[in-house]
Amino acid sequence: MLDLTTRINEASAYVRAKSAGREWRVFIVLGSGLGGLAKQAQNAVHIPYSDIPHFAQSTVAGHSGQFVVGDLFGVPVAMMQGRVHFYEGHPMWQVTLPVRVAKAMGAEMMIVTNAAGGINRAFDVADVMLITDHINFLGLAGQNPLIGPNDDTLGPRFPEMTQPYDAELCEWARQAAKVNGVNLREGVYAGVSGPFFESPAELRMLRAMGADAVGMSTVNEVVAARHGRMRVLGFSGITNVARLSADEGPPPTHEEVMEASPKIAPKLSAIVQGVLQQWKSSHS
Ligand code: HPA
Repeated sequence: MLDLTTRINEASAYVRAKSAGREWRVFIVLGSGLGGLAKQAQNAVHIPYSDIPHFAQSTVAGHSGQFVVGDLFGVPVAMMQGRVHFYEGHPMWQVTLPVRVAKAMGAEMMIVTNAAGGINRAFDVADVMLITDHINFLGLAGQNPLIGPNDDTLGPRFPEMTQPYDAELCEWARQAAKVNGVNLREGVYAGVSGPFFESPAELRMLRAMGADAVGMSTVNEVVAARHGRMRVLGFSGITNVARLSADEGPPPTHEEVMEASPKIAPKLSAIVQGVLQQWKSSHS
């Protein structure tokens, strides 16, 4: 079996060869129904996951499955248009391989987005939540990309997660939201495996633990990114109200999640634009 570093090197070499010499330092993961941001990229090169060595295929509706390398709001970026999830049956190393590849190619910042159920009762459908911290439900129980031998060239054996979401980047996001009149919510994201939507008792448990939103992704990518010391910024688009009791309303569906996304995407786009502008001015 090939080791992780060999896989990272082979995948990065392929992406580099297809990227027409582009250099980028910002990596953006687009969640369910949020792939539209990739269409705003200029001079874009599209690299399907199916062509990249060792990459898993995205099988979920709303996730198209390609790397998009181009200029977003004047900043060179690589975007994952569609992610792969643990619940699709991919091992954790493969779920997080794109993050490892991004790091190997020189990414310094990851902006990660997802669709999530709102646990916090102050949240409305179509709100955007800045992720200030997370509960890695699976990860704490041993399902995470760092299980197994550690490659010290990728990161330390015992990385710390004191501040997974970068304080300065969060501040840029708050400013960008303010300037654009977006009522940016903030909170803790609970990462679970899915693919089932949670039971009311499970949701009440997550609320009691301090979670404001729940979703089936993101935390694995964030652990891999922080292992590699990338700076991380995260957003949840609240696509549905997580029902804390069975009589609170109809059960959530993937269709409901997809329907909310078009209302979330423009807000997210405005915030990402503001953050990238700040990034650009701090790097020029
Ligand atoms: N639960 C888990 N994941 C989700 C949800 C939810 O309610 N909505 C969107 N992704």
